[in-house]
Amino acid sequence: MLEVSDIHSFYDKSHVLMGVSLEVRDGELVTLLGRNGAGKTTTLKSIMGVVPPRSGRISFAGTEMTKMKSFQIARRGLCLVPEQRDIFSILTVEENLQIAKNKNSPWGIPDVYKLFPKLNERRQNPGNNLSGGEQQMLAIARALVNGPKLLILDEPTEGLAPVIVQEIVAILKDIKNTGIPVLLVEQNINVCEKLADRHYVLEQGRVVYSGTQEEFAANKAVKDRYLALQTN
Ligand SMILES: Nc1ncnc2c1ncn2[C@@H]1O[C@H](COP(=O)(O)OP(=O)(O)O)[C@@H](O)[C@H]1O
Ligand SMILES: [Mg+2]
Repeated sequence: MLEVSDIHSFYDKSHVLMGVSLEVRDGELVTLLGRNGAGKTTTLKSIMGVVPPRSGRISFAGTEMTKMKSFQIARRGLCLVPEQRDIFSILTVEENLQIAKNKNSPWGIPDVYKLFPKLNERRQNPGNNLSGGEQQMLAIARALVNGPKLLILDEPTEGLAPVIVQEIVAILKDIKNTGIPVLLVEQNINVCEKLADRHYVLEQGRVVYSGTQEEFAANKAVKDRYLALQTN
């Protein structure tokens, strides 16, 4: 489905990704782990064409995307929910969903209200009136009404209270169960272990570990060595 092979990405002269390769197969939820500054967000931005790799290859559903512009990549159904969520603060929940809506999406606005009852209660509230958890839900809901073929999330539970984190986990499970492949950047190991089929660990712009959930769960050394443990 998504294949990233040996990409090198830079910010000006600063060489940040040094040959990252990873893969997300049909229906899989894959996490990308690693400490702050490891290059996780840059990997997502490279996939989306925002920080285009200077070398290496990215393909999706058999189509080479390496030279495509961001809007062309988005049009092919790759949908990034960025860390800062980017919802429109002066628009209501309903308006935020309406402008993201794509008639080809299997999710209509009523469907996402079913998935996120809290958003339904808050539909007339402006974006800047939502809690952090509600903003994250709105950002995910907006991605769904856009009809993603691959959903990419950058630290969706960051800064949220544990009970909200559990709600987001349940929703991501539901989304995965509909068959949409997901690439998830996450620092909370519990969240990762509840959701993922496979994991990759990045360190200083390189993949230093990859394994299935079973392999990862049994490998305390990799967690101690490469991850800042956050397990609430
Ligand atoms: N816009 C930028 N300009 C220059 N350097 C950046 C920029 N964004 C990130 N970096 C650097 O690239 C490295 C990887 O950052 P990032 O991909 O954001 O890491 P992560 O998401 O894993 O925390 C870090 O050293 C960071 O300082
Ligand atoms: Mg980041």
